[in-house]
Amino acid sequence: MKNQKTIWPGGTQLAPVPVVLVGCGDGKNFKYNCLTVAWAGTLSSNPPMVGIGVRPERYSRGLIESSGVFTVNMPSADLAEKVDYCGVVSGRDVDKFAKCGFTAIAGSKVAAPVIAECPISLECKVRHSLSLGSHILYVGEVVAVQISSEFIDEKNHFDVTKANLLAYAHGNYISLGETLGTFGYSVKKK
Ligand SMILES: Cc1cc2nc3c(=O)[nH]c(=O)nc-3n(C[C@H](O)[C@H](O)[C@H](O)COP(=O)(O)O)c2cc1C
Repeated sequence: MKNQKTIWPGGTQLAPVPVVLVGCGDGKNFKYNCLTVAWAGTLSSNPPMVGIGVRPERYSRGLIESSGVFTVNMPSADLAEKVDYCGVVSGRDVDKFAKCGFTAIAGSKVAAPVIAECPISLECKVRHSLSLGSHILYVGEVVAVQISSEFIDEKNHFDVTKANLLAYAHGNYISLGETLGTFGYSVKKK
């Protein structure tokens, strides 16, 4: 029957969510790594803050904590397989940058690596961390953004339709579909 609900216990069903490659590492020693993170989101506009949820046992955790910085690299849909790979192997065992053919470029404001192949990357400084249970929430202030110039249009806007960013929903990697409207279009005069 329409609108009849099935009740599940509380869980991680919020979807779709971004799936990102978090770049981390010690810039001085070039000890770079990245891991796939789906528990990520914008938390504040001013100052711009993002949160990432990282399990304490991840190799990346130590790199994030020792450097106090990380990058959030948003992949395009064509990188889905590499995103999955970076989420199932550990930097303890594999050089994921080398294996995936990723180019690590220097952050402009942080030591953590930016993944050149991703259309847009956030450079973040850890401002807070909070243990939530299975995951540690790292709240990072976004101190710079690196965007591949090919996705910036003539009005100096990031063209998200061209970047074809990757989303994640209930275990599935999904590419974004058609644009249905833009911010505030519901109340704008036609
Ligand atoms: C789609 C996907 C989403 C993931 N999301 C998270 C996440 O939000 N937090 C986390 O700690 N691990 C997440 N993981 C698992 C880590 O990416 C994975 O354990 C990775 O191998 C850790 O890398 P590291 O040991 O090099 O740090 C995710 C994996 C996949 C495939």
